[in-house]
Amino acid sequence: MTDLRIREMRPSDKSEVSELICVSTNQWYLMHGFDANFPGGPRVTEIFYDVYSVLEGSWGIVAENKKTSRLMGTCFYHIRPTHVALGIMNVHPNYFKLGVARSLLKYITDISDRENKPLRLISSAMNLDSYSLYNQAGFIPHFIYQDILLTVPENGIKDDIPGLKNVRPATLGDVPGMVNLELEISGIQRGGDYAYFIENRDGLWHVSVWEGNNGEINGFLASCSGHGFNMLGPGVSRDQEQATALILQEANQNKGKTILFIIPAESSRLVKRMYEWGGKNNELHFSQVRGEFTPYSGVIIQTFMPETG
Ligand SMILES: CC(C)(COP(=O)(O)OP(=O)(O)OC[C@H]1O[C@@H](n2cnc3c(N)ncnc32)[C@H](O)[C@@H]1OP(=O)(O)O)[C@@H](O)C(=O)NCCC(=O)NCCS
Repeated sequence: MTDLRIREMRPSDKSEVSELICVSTNQWYLMHGFDANFPGGPRVTEIFYDVYSVLEGSWGIVAENKKTSRLMGTCFYHIRPTHVALGIMNVHPNYFKLGVARSLLKYITDISDRENKPLRLISSAMNLDSYSLYNQAGFIPHFIYQDILLTVPENGIKDDIPGLKNVRPATLGDVPGMVNLELEISGIQRGGDYAYFIENRDGLWHVSVWEGNNGEINGFLASCSGHGFNMLGPGVSRDQEQATALILQEANQNKGKTILFIIPAESSRLVKRMYEWGGKNNELHFSQVRGEFTPYSGVIIQTFMPETG
């Protein structure tokens, strides 16, 4: 599109970016017969700008209409030690299917090429527009995930999970153990994100770790709760029972609320337990990588906040 220019996001873009994420996502889902994803409006989607403007290595880009200076699309990226991650991608409905997303994606694939790092994301398995966009740019889907919506009872979930006693709140001293675990299990590192969650300066985060008898970290799970955005993840664990115990602990930080989390479809015992707790499938996602990928050797709980893959 000749009328379009891609530029880095500016603080003055915040409200227009939040409006665009909200209207783009809601409109796409409504057009395809689903419910709006952000019924709470742009106050909820402000969280993307708020978190990515303070998280080290993360920032956003916009596609600006050169004639009107209005935004046609937005996307976020995260440069991490082992990889680059792509955050939520949105095009304003007035400009769907005109190549805006393709231009935004090119800017970010250029960053990952310059950094010589794989580019990772999670994308909806129900959205052929985004699947095609990423697939044409060289992404390969590797794992299937189920997005589970769960309403946590007012007095919390009660379940006798083996290993629940090993779960405790994380401290900053746990970050090296969390980083090593994730590197071993999924081949990526993002210790800066974990320190940011645990410091919790914006009051949005809670993190639990699953600690073994010798003090080793065998799993962890973060959760984000604020402005109507209640989501568990990211999380990593060696096995499904540890993941179940961590989900219970973080779900119970959200008593009386409906939470969303994204679990591997292949983790059948974990999936079955979520149904027993009343979880409902909301969507399916693929984790996708453009570049080198090492298969996971444990359980990865994905999230949109911040984007993982
Ligand atoms: C998904 C979304 C970002 C796509 O934006 P867009 O600007 O309409 O996409 P583009 O016009 O750049 O099209 C992307 C490419 O996919 C191709 N494409 C689309 N549908 C296709 C299909 N069924 N088969 C093959 N290719 C297809 C297009 O032709 C285009 O490739 P080209 O440039 O080589 O022709 C947009 O629909 C959106 O914002 N949706 C709501 C939010 C969302 O779902 N974000 C993604 C989260 S996973």
